[in-house]
Amino acid sequence: MARRPVIAGNWKMHNLQQEAADLTNGIMQELKSEDKEKLPEVVIAPTFTSLYAANKALTDCGCGKVKLAAQNCYFETKGAFTGECSVEMLKDAGCEYIIIGHSERREYFGETDEMVNKKAKAILSNGLVPIICCGESLEQREAGVTDYHISSQITKAFRDLTAEQAAKSIIAYEPIWAIGTGKTCDSKEANRVIAMIRNVIKGLFDAKTSEAIRILYGGSVKPATIKEQMAQSDIDGALVGGASLTADSFAQIVKGAM
Ligand code: 13P
Repeated sequence: MARRPVIAGNWKMHNLQQEAADLTNGIMQELKSEDKEKLPEVVIAPTFTSLYAANKALTDCGCGKVKLAAQNCYFETKGAFTGECSVEMLKDAGCEYIIIGHSERREYFGETDEMVNKKAKAILSNGLVPIICCGESLEQREAGVTDYHISSQITKAFRDLTAEQAAKSIIAYEPIWAIGTGKTCDSKEANRVIAMIRNVIKGLFDAKTSEAIRILYGGSVKPATIKEQMAQSDIDGALVGGASLTADSFAQIVKGAM
């Protein structure tokens, strides 16, 4: 069966509550005339304090075309973990997806592969979908260790998951040098790495799981790049940063994936 594309907008640390509500409404306005069945899975990931506003806008619209994600979570269920949010709390706030292992969290907040693995398990056991990020730095690419590094990130992230849990997960391949730089990774090269990731999943689980899992590309995705990216055999969608911050450009990317 063909994999349903996913277009996810990672808003990072942007948008106050009113801005989040306006952007959410703007995206739904742009997608109003589109047939829900033909749309990709569309996901927006506001920061914690704007989840309520975005969720309210989505619920009030009731069209069900756009789903909510968080940008991070903690793997424990509750307790003395000042500043953290559990998966259950994020589910309660309306989230169906949670981004984990983003390179910015790894770089600035010390998120390790082991934490990504614990978070993935907590997310899946609560019935939500993890969007598991991986990607190499420019130094790693230049040193020729891209595939080795990414295989290691994926192997550690998926440790002790069942094949069924793995098949439900989403991976985002985001080369760090392509994030926020305007330098999109060449589509064929992104597809090569993503096919390599699919092969790692096949080795960890089985062929059926590797065929089912959705693997996205992220890193300077724009309306002008999405069609070529979606035309590749193994790219199942995009994790979009900067271009997800305006309704018009995000909707163009969504439509480019149809
Ligand atoms: P940009 O689209 O701004 O390069 O960000 C990509 C990203 O990090 C999405 O998670």
